[in-house]
Amino acid sequence: MAPGGLHCVTSCFRVFLPLLLFLLLLLVSAAVADCPSGCTCDVARKSVRCTQVSAFPVGTDVTTESLTITGNYSMPLQLPHVTNAELRPLSALKTLVITHTVLESVGEDVFQGLTNLVSLDLTFNRLSKLEKEIFKPLTSLLFLYLTGNDRLDIAASLFRDLHNLKGLYMGSLGLNHLDPQLFTNLVNLTYLDLSDNYLKELPDGIASDKWLPRLQVLDLSFNHLTTLKDTMAPLVSRVNRVILADNPWNCNCRLKWVKAHAKSLFPPHSPAVLCHEPPSVRYSDVSTLPDTRMVCTPPSLLNCSKVPETLEGQEVKVTCTVEGDPFPDVSWRLADNTIISGSDSPGRELLQVINSTFIISVVANTASNGSLLINVSNVQGMDQKILQLFVRPTTTTTTTTTTTTASTTTTTITTTATAQDTTTTNTAKDTTTTNTAKDTPTEKEGSLNIEAIVAGAAAGVGGILIGVIVTACICKKCSSNKVEPSF
Ligand SMILES: *[C@@H]1O[C@H](CO)[C@@H](O)[C@H](O)[C@H]1NC(C)=O
Ligand SMILES: *[C@@H]1O[C@H](CO)[C@@H](O)[C@H](O)[C@H]1NC(C)=O
Ligand SMILES: *[C@@H]1O[C@H](CO)[C@@H](O)[C@H](O)[C@H]1NC(C)=O
Ligand SMILES: *[C@@H]1O[C@H](CO)[C@@H](O)[C@H](O)[C@H]1NC(C)=O
Ligand SMILES: *[C@@H]1O[C@H](CO)[C@@H](O)[C@H](O)[C@H]1NC(C)=O
Ligand SMILES: *[C@@H]1O[C@H](CO)[C@@H](O)[C@H](O)[C@H]1NC(C)=O
Repeated sequence: MAPGGLHCVTSCFRVFLPLLLFLLLLLVSAAVADCPSGCTCDVARKSVRCTQVSAFPVGTDVTTESLTITGNYSMPLQLPHVTNAELRPLSALKTLVITHTVLESVGEDVFQGLTNLVSLDLTFNRLSKLEKEIFKPLTSLLFLYLTGNDRLDIAASLFRDLHNLKGLYMGSLGLNHLDPQLFTNLVNLTYLDLSDNYLKELPDGIASDKWLPRLQVLDLSFNHLTTLKDTMAPLVSRVNRVILADNPWNCNCRLKWVKAHAKSLFPPHSPAVLCHEPPSVRYSDVSTLPDTRMVCTPPSLLNCSKVPETLEGQEVKVTCTVEGDPFPDVSWRLADNTIISGSDSPGRELLQVINSTFIISVVANTASNGSLLINVSNVQGMDQKILQLFVRPTTTTTTTTTTTTASTTTTTITTTATAQDTTTTNTAKDTTTTNTAKDTPTEKEGSLNIEAIVAGAAAGVGGILIGVIVTACICKKCSSNKVEPSF
């Protein structure tokens, strides 16, 4: 009995073994067939990695939890678009990486249905726009990587729905300003990377303790920051780490406070934070620079351009050279007492700063017709200068000059006269530059106005005189018009 039974088992085995093997082979080949071409698949880990595709990989197993589509720096993958139709079947995805591709646009609905997604990496693509509500379906998202899309335009409400987000990576996006509103709802964010952008300053809004209440790391390295206001001290104290390396820091008196925050700003083994300005301390380590070498100097207005007479409605540009560290705030007061400061001109370039010169723009109208006071101030003091602006009305063609006859001649004369006038008052002003307390300017202004009147009167007399000369000249049939340069 026993041998027969054994024989049966062996024969059974002989029959079934090939079948078993065949089934196994089928299973394996099925798994392999499910892996799209250009990709490698790890069935056990439910992960797919594609490095050789030129379209979204079709036939990806719907149970895949991690999908990576990646080119490299030298060879970005030719994948310009991704659609919801392609992504939607992969609703089990927890990690999606599309990096180093030419991806430039994705529709607003592209992530619909990816409610399990925890990490989304879209770094180093060519995205230029992300629709406002694009991230709304990603209710589980914890990490969002956008670094390296250097033309990406970020709408203020883009991250509004990402309440659970813990890490947000916005490096190398070409950002030149920061809107604190962008982060309003990110109550759980602990890591914010803003490195390698063009940030020159940080908005005051981020100093609030309501801003990113759980933030632990703020990476500001490789930006264009020159100073950190001491109003940032509470933020710097409540986080673990603020990375400041590789910015052109101006180590003047305003930066002294940072040395008291070594724990979060200068932890051991972190890249040194070096000074860029002033030249006397360039390449010094901020963390060890003595207070005595971190100095500020009061502003001094050296040189302002002469203001030509301007036709009503035109724009006048005044260029001034200024010294002082930190670079002073600039404000100016028009003839009608309106005060304009360089900072409160959103959208309109009223103030441009190029190294140690600044240019202010003034509209020539009745409000600006008269003396223009330019005021520069910084933490160390202030300085000011008064220039005269002469606005010629556009409507009036006849002037009150009575002595002349031909109207064309009259116009020429008036122009010459007032141009002369401007120069005179200007030089007068240069000598009266004030560099001291606030009460003196008014006093000086008073005397200036008298001077201006005197100068104006002198110029008026001059104008009439020129008129007489020119008229005389015309009477004598002088053909030469080259009278002007001599004034
Ligand atoms: C970049 O990817 C291409 C195509 O996959 C490959 O041939 C090349 O070797 C890769 N280059 C580097 C530097 O990895
Ligand atoms: C933030 O994180 C906490 C703890 O990890 C969690 O309970 C909470 O649901 C998260 N989301 C919000 C919006 O607070
Ligand atoms: C003032 O400006 C003029 C030209 O704008 C320049 O030639 C001159 O050297 C400047 N003077 C000072 C003191 O900066
Ligand atoms: C500003 O200063 C820098 C360095 O001192 C110089 O390279 C640059 O040309 C200056 N820019 C202008 C517009 O003068
Ligand atoms: C000049 O500016 C400073 C700082 O903004 C201000 O305190 C001062 O009152 C201004 N002076 C005048 C005359 O406008
Ligand atoms: C500017 O003031 C001068 C006199 O100071 C006057 O002749 C001229 O009409 C004024 N211009 C305008 C646009 O009001």
